[in-house]
Amino acid sequence: MSRYSVHRLRELKANGKKFAMITAYDYPSARLVEQAGVPIILVGDSLGSVILGYESTVPVTMDDIVHHTRAVVRATQKAIVVADLPFMSYQASPDDAMRNAGRLLQEAGATAVKLEGGSHVVPLVRRMVECGIPVMGHLGLTPQSVNQFGGHKVQGKTPAAAAKLINDARALEEAGAFAVVLETIPAPLARMVTERVGIPTIGIGAGPDCDAQVQVFHDMLGIFDDQRPLRHAKRYAVLGEQIRSAVRAYVDEVENGQFPTEEHAFPMDEGTISELAHAY
Ligand code: KIV
Repeated sequence: MSRYSVHRLRELKANGKKFAMITAYDYPSARLVEQAGVPIILVGDSLGSVILGYESTVPVTMDDIVHHTRAVVRATQKAIVVADLPFMSYQASPDDAMRNAGRLLQEAGATAVKLEGGSHVVPLVRRMVECGIPVMGHLGLTPQSVNQFGGHKVQGKTPAAAAKLINDARALEEAGAFAVVLETIPAPLARMVTERVGIPTIGIGAGPDCDAQVQVFHDMLGIFDDQRPLRHAKRYAVLGEQIRSAVRAYVDEVENGQFPTEEHAFPMDEGTISELAHAY
């Protein structure tokens, strides 16, 4: 069975059909997401926070992304798997960037890569696309630059910043990117970008007018339900509490002898039992 092609996403936009992307980082989450019919999965460097417990995406390495992408690829047959190029895997030199992007396709089995930034990454995007590597762009609040922004702040609020973002989106499209993530920007700006490019815009904290939306698996499923809800995320379940209470029930049953019962144990025939009992 072959995977969806990245060109299909452009067709969806052309036909006015919205679609959803979700992050996944391991075999079980990717399986569930694909079974739910999601056409495109992002192995985001957000795994730094939600899987590895870092404060930001900055410490995530190429080896981390390769490891998690391989699991997601093993779990899926049809979904497009986009792997994030982590911080400093494409900024230091174009040759490193090409080798690292190639690794994500060759070694990890990703369909495409995603990288952050506007005009300064455009030559790199063009080179990757020319070499057969599908590229997704990422504009607005680009988390790898969180230290530069001084926190998770809405981007593109001034006329100059908004104009730059529109021009960056156009330049990414012109360089061959097949889609662009718009993160934490005013909704009217996201609408303007969406109307001005032919490639799908995939919003997170960018309002309802993007062609697609992306959510982080752990945020939308309420895994960290003891943390303050994020404005750009909607909780569709509160699995954190469900998991905690299931674990508590198991612990209680072990402690009071309710688990395991015969149903979960393996019998032995009577002859062997009495033979053993006599011999030992
Ligand atoms: O790493 C990630 O999960 C992302 C999305 C938030 C777009 O880049």
